[in-house]
Amino acid sequence: MKNVVVGVTGGIACYKVADLVSKLKKHDINVDVIMTESACEFVNPLTFRTLSKNPVVTSTFAVPEAWKVGHISLAQKADVMLIAPATANVIGKVANGIADDMLTTTIMACKAKIVFAPAMNVNMYENPILQENIEKLKRLGYMFVEPGAGLLACGDVGKGRMAEPAEIEAFVLDLLYGEYQDGSADKVEKDLAGKRFLVTAGPTVEDIDPVRYISNRSSGKMGFAIAEAARARGAEVTLVCGPVKLTCSEDIRRIDVKTTKDMLAACESVFDDIDVVVKAAAPADFYVVNQSEHKMKKVPGQDNVTIELAKNPDVIATLGKKKGDRILVGFAAETRDLEKYAREKIVSKNLDMIVANDVSAPGAGFNHDTNIITVFKAVDSSKTVYDKMSKVQAADVILDNVVEIIKNR
Ligand code: CTP
Repeated sequence: MKNVVVGVTGGIACYKVADLVSKLKKHDINVDVIMTESACEFVNPLTFRTLSKNPVVTSTFAVPEAWKVGHISLAQKADVMLIAPATANVIGKVANGIADDMLTTTIMACKAKIVFAPAMNVNMYENPILQENIEKLKRLGYMFVEPGAGLLACGDVGKGRMAEPAEIEAFVLDLLYGEYQDGSADKVEKDLAGKRFLVTAGPTVEDIDPVRYISNRSSGKMGFAIAEAARARGAEVTLVCGPVKLTCSEDIRRIDVKTTKDMLAACESVFDDIDVVVKAAAPADFYVVNQSEHKMKKVPGQDNVTIELAKNPDVIATLGKKKGDRILVGFAAETRDLEKYAREKIVSKNLDMIVANDVSAPGAGFNHDTNIITVFKAVDSSKTVYDKMSKVQAADVILDNVVEIIKNR
């Protein structure tokens, strides 16, 4: 029987590791769990004791009575040692030779394969100190299951979410048996491999003068989630985005733009090499004609100022006119008559599919982490209504529909 020692450190992803331990147990693997003090704040050791069917070690001095193994014997017993979730703290300690509790002493004494599954806030993950620690550990032969990007528990979107239990399970099984043994775990299927995606996200900004602008409430979260999900499913992704406070995976080609005209130019510059366009951005529909070169000053006695707006190009409709074999997916943000407007936009913009949402509904639309979407397809005039879900889940649902369109062609 193979032995896996799971080190659980303090992060909200602890609860996912409970699932992971039970997945490993189903492969008839003996699992011993070591929890740090802060991990015990997130999940009660009893949970891991019940799932692993083994006593749980919580500190150097509290090794269970009936189970006289210290850190050395656990370290020797392990075929694989997995630290999940791995905080910036434990990565930093191990990288710098600190062994001040049961977990870090066991890691230091362990000669088996050691795998970290990091989980933390995106800014912590991007911190150069952490990145240096990871690089050092990798150089020394420690392994990492990369965190995913998406919506984090802290509300930020970016890289830092612990890899899914199924992915870590597959990684560990691979290390133990040399190949993936069990087809039951749902690894991310690379069903978009070879497809080239152009995703747009966020608002665009039109200047009134050097200090004032018009824009809209789009956060970019939906588009970023789609870009990340497409990447995870094997697509090559270009992301054109307006000003947003979000980060994306390094292997996404990101082009930052400001105005709607910039967005169109960026999209057109890559369009030839694209198979699927997902237009989740909310480009400003109007630009300021009488944009002022200098800051507009208040003129005494002049109470009204007129800003003249003119129509911007419609980015997706422009691409729609020369779409060829490409698949074009648009969005429709409405506050009433959702179906009527969505169906009209499919025709007027020459789309294959539109994702409509009522932005006035609670939990949908701009700046929320959730969305309530209805998908309309051109090919069969179908309409599918989905329940409220996270934007990360919605991204996969949208891509499932794209895969269906590709398959039925
Ligand atoms: N869109 C675009 N360029 C614009 C405006 C919108 O590419 N200048 C795209 C959006 O990215 C989205 C779709 O068109 O995929 C629908 O956007 P929406 O704001 O709902 O509709 P509009 O076409 O702007 O129409 P209206 O504002 O009249 O509802």
